[in-house]
Amino acid sequence: MKKNILFVCLGNICRSPSAEAVFKHLVEKKGEEGNFFIDSAGTSAWHAGEKADARMRRHAKKRGIELTSISRKFVPEDFDRFDYIIAMDRENMDEMKRMARNKNDLDKLHMMTDFSQKFNYHEIPDPYYGGDEGFELVLDLLEDANKGLLDHIKSS
Ligand code: 4NP
Repeated sequence: MKKNILFVCLGNICRSPSAEAVFKHLVEKKGEEGNFFIDSAGTSAWHAGEKADARMRRHAKKRGIELTSISRKFVPEDFDRFDYIIAMDRENMDEMKRMARNKNDLDKLHMMTDFSQKFNYHEIPDPYYGGDEGFELVLDLLEDANKGLLDHIKSS
């Protein structure tokens, strides 16, 4: 059965479009793209309609990962369309918890870092106001945690 996965951050221009692209890259490498629908969204509409942040796109491209998504706001209907909704940080998680309509919605929410294998971070830190190293850290954390997410989905 096809699984629908949604990655969520604040602006949907740095972390969640990267998570989307990293997860797509991972499942494509394994020839499993037919088993997934993968998307991303932001809890704010501040950047709705925009491409991912140019700095984030540049750092991802160095790793062979292309960010193609256009920013959109997370809406309550996303709870109906997705099986796994993955928050990048605690603030994103709390905002979606407030929007959840029932226990079924709440059960779909997970923290990205809960799937980390090598790293011991509790959130994917927001790179927007920082330098190059923040964007690299986002990608390091996402490459690791997305492997864990794929393992989790396949074993559940
Ligand atoms: P993101 O990063 O949530 O990872 O997309 C941010 C993007 C924009 C802003 C903050 C964080 N902003 O303040 O506009």
